[in-house]
Amino acid sequence: MTLAFAVAISAAAGAAPALAANADNGGNLARRWCSTCHVVSPAQTQASADAPPFASIAQRPGFSAAQLALFLLDPHPKMPNMALSRIEAGDIAAYIETLRH
Ligand code: HEC
Repeated sequence: MTLAFAVAISAAAGAAPALAANADNGGNLARRWCSTCHVVSPAQTQASADAPPFASIAQRPGFSAAQLALFLLDPHPKMPNMALSRIEAGDIAAYIETLRH
């Protein structure tokens, strides 16, 4: 973790959770941690067959970034045990929300 990144995280941690969500950072995290199994962006062409692409998760009726962030704090069974902080979960959820259209 670079110093600039650490400073950005701690600055974000001081702000209100909803406002702190940083979709750009979430996109970076998703590419780094989720893309082995999920198609995380329109640029990605391959991932594991049984994991839903993030764009289709975003497209579900009733999608809510807030709910997704909560879901991500308690990883689904098929995911390796990755402990996301509340900030990271919020950022990834905000990123997935940008895929909704
Ligand atoms: C080792 C493979 C793997 C990795 C890495 C992984 N996932 Fe998943 N994920 C899956 C699979 C398989 C499913 C579908 C089956 C299930 O729900 O358990 C899934 C389902 C999901 C779902 C949808 C659950 C639903 O409502 O259908 C979300 C959201 C999700 N993953 C988010 C993430 C995020 C965010 C990351 C990165 C931080 C991530 N996953 C990393 C394998 C993975």
